[in-house]
Amino acid sequence: MAYPYQIKSLEDYQQQYQQSVIDPEGFWANVADHFYWRRKWDKVLDWNFKDPDVKWFTGGKLNITENCLDRHLGTLGNTPAIIWEPNDPEERHRVITYRDLYNKVCQFANVLKNNGVKKGDRVCIYMGMIPELAIAVLACARIGAIHSVVFGGFSAQSIADRIQDAQASLVITCDGAFRGNKDIPLKSVIDDALIGCPSVKKVIVCTRTRTPVSMIKGRDLWWEDEIKQVETMGNPPCPAEEMDAEDMLFILYTSGSTGKPKGVVHTVGGYMVYANYTFVNTFQYQPGEVYFCTADVGWITGHSYIIYGPLSAGATTLMFEGVPTYPDAGRLWSIVDKFRVNILYTAPTAIRSLMGYGLGPVNHKDLSSLRKLGSVGEPINEEAWHWFKDHIGKGRCPIVDTWWQTETGGIMITPIAGITKEKPGYATLPLPGIQPILVDETGKEVTGNNVNGNLCIKFPWPGMLRTTYGDHERCRTTYFATYENLYFTGDGCLRDEDGYYRITGRVDDVLNVSGHRIGTAEVENAINMHAGVVESAVVGYPHDIKGQGIYAYVITERQTHDPELTKKDILQTVSRIIGPIAKPDKIQFVSGLPKTRSGKIMRRILRKIAEGELDNLGDISTLLDPVVVEEIKRGRL
Ligand code: PRX
Repeated sequence: MAYPYQIKSLEDYQQQYQQSVIDPEGFWANVADHFYWRRKWDKVLDWNFKDPDVKWFTGGKLNITENCLDRHLGTLGNTPAIIWEPNDPEERHRVITYRDLYNKVCQFANVLKNNGVKKGDRVCIYMGMIPELAIAVLACARIGAIHSVVFGGFSAQSIADRIQDAQASLVITCDGAFRGNKDIPLKSVIDDALIGCPSVKKVIVCTRTRTPVSMIKGRDLWWEDEIKQVETMGNPPCPAEEMDAEDMLFILYTSGSTGKPKGVVHTVGGYMVYANYTFVNTFQYQPGEVYFCTADVGWITGHSYIIYGPLSAGATTLMFEGVPTYPDAGRLWSIVDKFRVNILYTAPTAIRSLMGYGLGPVNHKDLSSLRKLGSVGEPINEEAWHWFKDHIGKGRCPIVDTWWQTETGGIMITPIAGITKEKPGYATLPLPGIQPILVDETGKEVTGNNVNGNLCIKFPWPGMLRTTYGDHERCRTTYFATYENLYFTGDGCLRDEDGYYRITGRVDDVLNVSGHRIGTAEVENAINMHAGVVESAVVGYPHDIKGQGIYAYVITERQTHDPELTKKDILQTVSRIIGPIAKPDKIQFVSGLPKTRSGKIMRRILRKIAEGELDNLGDISTLLDPVVVEEIKRGRL
């Protein structure tokens, strides 16, 4: 059997789960034994959640790319590692075998070395969804450089913040990226970002769109020229750097309820074991299956379930450059048909938006290859779940509703495809190794079934974050200080009569817009940068397609002559500061905000108004100026 640690039945799941709780170290050591380690670990786990200080596989030496590439060459050398489908269906797709990928990663790793990148250096990657993105990520891992991938929808300012925080010395980008009918000028955005980033010495630019770009002498280099140089050196091998299990593998920035996004840090050994274990088990991956995850590598889903999970398992991972609605709303189904996709992992937002086009785009597509479906990133409503089940899975494919986070590194609570009895809207049960606990506001455990609480995890798992880059205290206060000895997820959760978990959404000021995580404070800060804005408050509200929309209440210095133009200006400002994904859906100008006597904005009230629950505002007598609430209600959009 390809994966000896693959769960085979419900009883097997229950047994593995029990064992993982009784003897977590023995359990994970058994899984980790099936990887290639240059040197085995001395100790499986050291931990405390107080500092926090968590170490897995201490003393173990390895390189994740030897596990994703080298160890497959003997058996899977000619097997497709990556199938790449371009944005334009008329353009030829690419198939990259494990041997090709190995060669390309070594080549580009040598390019990085030639440009002075060393173990521990930070490299920022800002590219579209092309195979070279995966190659760049793996090349960093090959030489022990820490990658920080930034999603292509973020602005120059957001990139600059991330580069400065990580003190990255090199950036890898493309001239541009194709997404639907758009051509995004990535290099030009990088040029703007780098004005304030003296740490960056080199920029490597991969050709994709042939958009004209400025190339700065001494700093900017073409990917293709650099590769040629390695070729003229006779393509020397690139031995993998020996890494400690707890060396950093990557930083990925994510939004929280306060301040700027923080750099979540994952380390080599634990992350590898966890990404692989959760991939193989959740999707019940069988050798030879074609697996298609529609996420972008700029998010954690792409890291764990386009690159590291599938490749470490020797799977065939399909990477799609474009968007589900281009050139038409049948694109995902055409891709499934074209490549005989067996496993499709996507987001509720995509499902909801495609549902809106009816069955026309689905009909006449051969979806008979599909065996398993997955959902990630936000709660999936029952209607979308059933549509996915009936019209895409034709009633025969299990759906795994996977709950997890950037910080968890991999899937935490999920059905196991074809094994766990599913229930629409429920992430169901924890994977082995995961010990969820619900607590009330005071931190007291909520026991039994049919209960609600804040979702925490009480025992470490190998894929968990280790720190937030450059600011360990922030990691402690954000995740480990709310409740003693628990990792706090920020999510609310229900445990039903069967002990099944249903995630009810964030309980903090984090929004989930189309599966993208956005902090309300971040959006407010961006709006407040706009000239003439005095103050703003941002809340989420239910949105049919995006799951959540962004509603902004804004106070301006004086009445604007053209409110519509001012709104557009504010949107432009947010786009510049964060990126188009953070643009509010609604902006309401107000003369004041509901505040307590101590000056705190009562978001609860603003949220209710945005949701349209005008008669259900609760007690507003403690407000400094209750009259303002009436005005806001009247002006509601
Ligand atoms: O609120 C939860 C929601 O997405 C948050 C994590 O966002 P991010 O770090 O960007 O990672 C997204 C991809 C893993 C969580 O705190 N979330 C994620 N998956 C689900 C979900 N909410 C409900 N159901 C899910 N399956």
